[in-house]
Amino acid sequence: MNRDTICVHGNKKPIPDKSGAVAVPIYQTATFAHPAVGKSTGYDYTRSGNPTRDALESAVASLEGGADALAFASGMAAVTTLMELFAPNDHIIASDDLYGGTRRLFDAVSVKNGLQFTYVGGADELSDALTEHTRAVFIETPTNPMMNVVDIAQCAAFSRAHGLLLIVDNTFLTPYFQQPIALGADIVLHSGTKYLGGHNDTLAGLLVTKTTELAEKLRFIQKTTGAVLAPFDAFLVLRGIKTLALRVTRQQETAVKVAEWLQSQRKVARVYYPGLPEHPQYELSRRQASGFGGMLSFTVDSRETAERVLEAVQLIQYAESLGGVESLITYPMLQTHADVPEAERLRLGIDDKLLRLSVGIEDADDLIADLAQAFGG
Ligand SMILES: Cc1ncc(COP(=O)(O)O)c(C=O)c1O
Repeated sequence: MNRDTICVHGNKKPIPDKSGAVAVPIYQTATFAHPAVGKSTGYDYTRSGNPTRDALESAVASLEGGADALAFASGMAAVTTLMELFAPNDHIIASDDLYGGTRRLFDAVSVKNGLQFTYVGGADELSDALTEHTRAVFIETPTNPMMNVVDIAQCAAFSRAHGLLLIVDNTFLTPYFQQPIALGADIVLHSGTKYLGGHNDTLAGLLVTKTTELAEKLRFIQKTTGAVLAPFDAFLVLRGIKTLALRVTRQQETAVKVAEWLQSQRKVARVYYPGLPEHPQYELSRRQASGFGGMLSFTVDSRETAERVLEAVQLIQYAESLGGVESLITYPMLQTHADVPEAERLRLGIDDKLLRLSVGIEDADDLIADLAQAFGG
């Protein structure tokens, strides 16, 4: 089935409801009655499984081309659960440009549990970071917020050769534009809060696995630690996915227009968008993904301009998060990446002149007009 169709229909996993409901019902129940002693309907307790969550999980597994998927209360709940696959002294090689919250989890919580991390700039640096304790490679592509594109197939070949799990955060491009499992990833991660949900109205996280064995391990950890997605939120993300194809296609079209307009602005020093032919990994991006997405970052000429833009935008909102129908602008230095050590932040380019824009589905000219008035001529 084509991805556009899967978005609308999920993978048509049968739900227990016999009413013919077109939308998957919200099974707002904590527990399920047993038909007889030792017998189960297949559902026992919502922490272990719920039909609304199941429908979402099977839709996302189909979209990503994975064997199975698990839905969590947030993207960070998904990463936290994922870290429980590892034991003290295990070592993980991660991209140095990651969502700040993931980096904070690794550096402030996972290290306390005995995990070790080495951060690298890209696939070429993996072998230098390898140790006898390395168990996984964790990447985001494009990276947040610098929009660097990491070669998934190269990371997969390295991971396979050394018996490591390759974990890819696919939040920015979504399975509509990029399918890491087909390129060799073992686990795909999503903040479902972003494009999958798509309406800035719920938090969610997803893990998609290449094999059922991995899913079983994670499901055991998930039901034990408990950070599952509630039925109502599962319904919201399922509803969001129905329009994923339309939204991301439109967001990308507008992002190209906005990126090109920004490039022509006197107060803009640099635009980071993989869909611009000047982007250093433009060709790689075209090779490994079928789209460039709706996220872009740019540096302006001064901190004053950055602050002015953030305070003067009217249609675009100065708010954290991304991927929703409303355009949002973020100051990574003070928001998403505030906890990354300053020297590291500056080395990556996350300084007081960097702004990140999540392009929504508004009219492109209206967005450009809003930015133009915010720059103040
Ligand atoms: C790329 C990426 N991964 C993971 C997360 C964490 O997701 P959540 O905010 O749903 O916990 C975010 C949040 O911004 C993100 O941008």
